[in-house]
Amino acid sequence: MKILESAPYRYDKGIKILTLGNITKAYDRLTQQVKKGDNILDVGCGTGMLTLHALIKGANVTGIDINTEMLEIARIRIENSDFKENVNLLEMGVAELDNFDENEFDVIMSGLCFSELSNDELNYTLKFSKKILKQNSLLIIADEVKSNLFVFRFLNFLIRIPLVIVTYILTQTTTKAVKGLEEKVTRAGFKIESIRKNKMRNFIELVARNIKEN
Ligand SMILES: C[S@@+](CC[C@H](N)C(=O)[O-])C[C@H]1O[C@@H](n2cnc3c(N)ncnc32)[C@H](O)[C@@H]1O
Repeated sequence: MKILESAPYRYDKGIKILTLGNITKAYDRLTQQVKKGDNILDVGCGTGMLTLHALIKGANVTGIDINTEMLEIARIRIENSDFKENVNLLEMGVAELDNFDENEFDVIMSGLCFSELSNDELNYTLKFSKKILKQNSLLIIADEVKSNLFVFRFLNFLIRIPLVIVTYILTQTTTKAVKGLEEKVTRAGFKIESIRKNKMRNFIELVARNIKEN
């Protein structure tokens, strides 16, 4: 979704149009897992869309992001809400997750950020999420994924060509759907509790538990 991040003030409207409003529905569903008082980390919080969903549920949220302008919009949005005491927005990347304490969070969530990480960053994020997330607590991810089935991969490829070209022209970067997310999450030591995919199999809502090790 880098194309939208090139103009952060248009991000919220753009993402809703691009996903036909499904992103809001996905975040509504996923944050049903959030309980009042939960201490949550939002990885790649951007303009704070998912952050706000969790704040409405009564959680305390730390949002991290590397994009100053996206964070600024999140700050303004939250300044204008009733939740400013319950949020901490930090300009930092996933490579700095080791700054957090072991067992610090009740939930770690991330919306549309894993697809912007390199494979190494993604695996590092999962590894550190396991450490800073309390045992038996939840990891919640909503993101673009690559289907295992060729027919869906091919259809998605065709649909994405124009988007990829325009994104590259505007940002000289690209967003890539995550390959094998379920396997990566499982390999990092989480137990997947639920998965929901859209009809095109290119968007996942995943909830996984940080299982206790004996
Ligand atoms: C598509 S936006 C999603 C923002 C928000 N989570 C949402 O759902 O609206 C992806 C965000 O991930 C952030 N991001 C990308 N790489 C990151 C990294 N290495 N560490 C932290 N944030 C990162 C980007 O700056 C961007 O704000």
